[in-house]
Amino acid sequence: MDSNNKQEILDALFESEAQKKAIVEGFNGILILFGRDMKAQWINKETHKRYPDALGKSCHEIFCSKSEKCSHCAFQRCLTSGAIERTTQRTGIFGADGDETVFDITASPVKDRYGKVCAIIGIAQNVTEQYRLERQLRHTQKMEAIGTLAGGVAHDFNNVLTPIMGYTEIIRLKMKQDGFGDQAVYDYLEEILKAAKRAKSLVEQVLTFSRSIEKKEVLLYVHPIVKEVMKLMRSTLPSTIVISEEIDEHCGRVFIDPVQIHQVLINLCTNAAHAMAGRHGMLKVRLGLAAPSGDGRDWLELSVADTGTGIEEKMLDRIFEPYFTTKEKTSGTGMGLAMVHGIVSRQGGFIKVESEIGKGSIFRVFLPVAQKETAIEQIVSLGDLKSGSGNILLVDDEEQVVQVTGEILQSLGYTVVGKTSPREAIELFATDPFRFDLLITDLTMAELTGLELSEKVKVYRPDIPIVLITGYSDQVSKDAAFEAGINEYCMKPISMRELSNIVGKFLG
Ligand SMILES: Nc1ncnc2c1ncn2[C@@H]1O[C@H](COP(=O)(O)OP(=O)(O)OP(=O)(O)O)[C@@H](O)[C@H]1O
Ligand SMILES: [Mg+2]
Repeated sequence: MDSNNKQEILDALFESEAQKKAIVEGFNGILILFGRDMKAQWINKETHKRYPDALGKSCHEIFCSKSEKCSHCAFQRCLTSGAIERTTQRTGIFGADGDETVFDITASPVKDRYGKVCAIIGIAQNVTEQYRLERQLRHTQKMEAIGTLAGGVAHDFNNVLTPIMGYTEIIRLKMKQDGFGDQAVYDYLEEILKAAKRAKSLVEQVLTFSRSIEKKEVLLYVHPIVKEVMKLMRSTLPSTIVISEEIDEHCGRVFIDPVQIHQVLINLCTNAAHAMAGRHGMLKVRLGLAAPSGDGRDWLELSVADTGTGIEEKMLDRIFEPYFTTKEKTSGTGMGLAMVHGIVSRQGGFIKVESEIGKGSIFRVFLPVAQKETAIEQIVSLGDLKSGSGNILLVDDEEQVVQVTGEILQSLGYTVVGKTSPREAIELFATDPFRFDLLITDLTMAELTGLELSEKVKVYRPDIPIVLITGYSDQVSKDAAFEAGINEYCMKPISMRELSNIVGKFLG
């Protein structure tokens, strides 16, 4: 070989080395070179950052912190097959959110010039987020499919039950009229009715899960319901179970059917109690604002924790399915969590479960806060005031009056649009006369009086209830106001109690 040739070969070698170096340094995942003995011989910077003492260790020690090989080890397969092998590996390394880290691992063989595998390049990419999203999507799709199916079946089932219950009752009545005296037959009919009623309540549960039942959502505080359920739990749970509650009363309102939130909590607490049956334990219920989630929204977190049996990991994905139960037929139908899931997800919320066998479980329900607590509520307890819901148009040319009255009304549960200009108020009202359920107006305003405003508003909607608030009793007599179509008339300054009572008459 002449020296020119040698130089060319050296140049080509250098270039090839430089290319490899650029690839390796540019790659921001984990890169490890394993020898035939499966021990790490070389690692890139990223690997060193995550696992500083990886050199000399085998893959299961590095990724899974365990001493024995995994059954589907890609490196082992690569060594035997001499081909590129892939695997997805969940590791024992936990991230900030308590989830496992999931790696996509590729084992690529390095061969000598006889084709024998002399080393293996391991490439690992962290796909935890992708894995979590996929799992979440699969779960949502599954629950939706089951919901649609169950809803359809339940609906038809109701149609089948109607004649069963109806005719049984008719037969019973007819027998009574005809003087049929065989008590045993009456008892049989009674049993049919009992069974049909039980079926009806099961159907109701399925319909709740599958979102086809009518719900009566209102804007409400969850804490009174939590307290009520805890009272109930105290009287039903054995004294071997200690109950602890931590309730923040100032975490705002959610938009939900009170009966349903009651069901959610009862189901979670009952499950917790079952998991601790026959031994000592603690049931811990917490209500508060959730830690900021980064999406800019406020979430209310209602959690139920127990120190019971715990749930096996492979079952965690299934517990929300309808009819999934590990309890005996007589004690559980498996509809509890399915219903909880249906109610919470319909409200735009979600549930997180963490559990450890032998230690216990925690179910955390997150619901979007629909209305934050107002400044007034932070100062005054509104417990015994009449609350309600509905849309109110509030008009007063004093900015501060609009502000404070608006805030009181909101704290009572109403939605309020405040205006300081009666003309603007009319314009707004005219765009959608049925948007508001009540008009509250001041009497004396510069642009238009409250009576003039009322008249104009009534042109668009004659039946809108109107409350007139006045500072001067002698300016307009009550009679004149009622003649002008005003439903209520009151004097400033109006107390919170008075306001809550008056508005409650129309919207409570
Ligand atoms: N706190 C908990 N601890 C341990 N296991 C639980 C807990 N909550 C739920 N599970 C498991 O999830 C399963 C499903 O719960 P779910 O509430 O849907 O039905 P169930 O309690 O079995 O019956 P039902 O609520 O209809 O009476 C239970 O059978 C149980 O195995
Ligand atoms: Mg249950």
